[in-house]
Amino acid sequence: MTTATLDSVRQKLAAVGQEHLLTFCDRLGPDEVGVLVEQINAIDLDALPGLIERYVLSDQQFEIPDDLEPAPYYPRDPASPVRPWDRDAAAELGEKLIADGKVGCFTVAGGQGSRLGYDGPKGCYPAGVISGKPLFQIFAEGILAASRAHARPIPWYIMTSPLNHDATVAFFMEHNFFGLCADDVMFFPQGTMPSFDKATGKILLADRHTIATNPDGHGGALKAMVASGATADMQKRGIEHVSYFQVDNPHVRVLDPVFIGLHAGADDSSGEMSSKMLPKADAKEKVGVFCRSCGRTMVVEYSDLPDALACQTNPDGSLRFNAGSPAIHMLGVGFVEKLARDPEFALPYHRAVKKVPHVDLETGKRVEPIEPNAVKLERFVFDAIPLAESSIVLETDRVEEFAPVKNKDGVDSIVTSKRLQTERAARWLEAAGVKVPRKPDGSPDCVIEIGPLTATCAEELVAKRESLPPEIERGASVVL
Ligand code: UD1
Repeated sequence: MTTATLDSVRQKLAAVGQEHLLTFCDRLGPDEVGVLVEQINAIDLDALPGLIERYVLSDQQFEIPDDLEPAPYYPRDPASPVRPWDRDAAAELGEKLIADGKVGCFTVAGGQGSRLGYDGPKGCYPAGVISGKPLFQIFAEGILAASRAHARPIPWYIMTSPLNHDATVAFFMEHNFFGLCADDVMFFPQGTMPSFDKATGKILLADRHTIATNPDGHGGALKAMVASGATADMQKRGIEHVSYFQVDNPHVRVLDPVFIGLHAGADDSSGEMSSKMLPKADAKEKVGVFCRSCGRTMVVEYSDLPDALACQTNPDGSLRFNAGSPAIHMLGVGFVEKLARDPEFALPYHRAVKKVPHVDLETGKRVEPIEPNAVKLERFVFDAIPLAESSIVLETDRVEEFAPVKNKDGVDSIVTSKRLQTERAARWLEAAGVKVPRKPDGSPDCVIEIGPLTATCAEELVAKRESLPPEIERGASVVL
């Protein structure tokens, strides 16, 4: 690194009030300076002052639009008088699109998983009720089942973060890609954002030659899909739509023909971005809510929805803003390309105040903050929904499709997830005519795990009823 280059970097930093990043430069080796300058060059310095002003130094609350109303949705029951629709036609189209190789899967697995208290990529977390299968294996088997049913490979794109990329890839290699062909699984890391000092807006240094960064949110997926070559790979393979899901939900139907068909074929869908919704468990459940404003569908994140609206009820006492988001979407590949290549990439940032360890600029010593000291900026993928011409929402069932593992204990923990997994398995078995023992409170009096290679929905299990036991014993543990 020449002195002239370093001077030019210093000048650029000074112009945006971030010169402190070079504080320790004269005490670093040439390689370390190189690493630091490379990180600095990757930051869009021109955009920094505006970002810091808007998101770091001020705590602008999300403004609820005056015309905000609940988003309409396709009810789970296609015969519902509220909005009748043709489920069979949607399923047929979805099946055809999968069979024609036009659909892939996409998982966002870049989050830090700190709430779960698990040391490793969240997808490696053992979530299977009895088998302890990792989340990644549950999804892999769902994809394998669909690809066997359609006699063709279904590619899977997995977004990691720089923090867990290598560990994620190593995990798949160690487990032989859980039976999938390695050529059909593509990993790419999402982007990062610098972490900022909350009081001053200055970028924090993680150590003397490294900028403190955080993953840029799952909204970063749109840009990362294009930058990594994932969308190019999709186009090469003829993939037009991807089924998007989060790494934390073992109940997600990785490829749902009905949802795919509605997304691609419904009259009121532009085929750009569609979503599933489930009725909220209670007014304060921590899920985003589907709303509508200016004729556009949008998700208002739980933290942005004022209590007065979250608790508002209809005349019959039901919640007015009731459409919770399980974060399951269909994305058109062309839509992703269009948004990501737009120089004015339109997804806003969201601010989170967190504890970020950093180096004290005066002493050079590492500081482990006791109180939140930093602002992390993230983008959310659902902010792309209002950018679609016309976006549809399909109701799904909570037990069928939402058993997230997010927290160490309590709500949305492995305990609640396993309970839901057994409940869903019990329902499927009962649909197939198997007698399942239940406790007086109605919950199954046994533990059951149905792997995706056995069935990915009740109908598939019903088709295998001949090979199922007629009844499950009280207190039994059954893996199918
Ligand atoms: C999320 C949604 C919420 C939805 C709920 C359903 C957000 C902000 N909120 O809440 O609207 O109702 O799930 O379960 O997403 N991830 C990345 N990179 C990142 C950040 C996150 O890949 O930079 C991934 C995580 O690995 C995870 C998912 O995104 O798979 C969700 O992230 P998380 O921050 O845990 O969101 P939630 O608060 O659970």
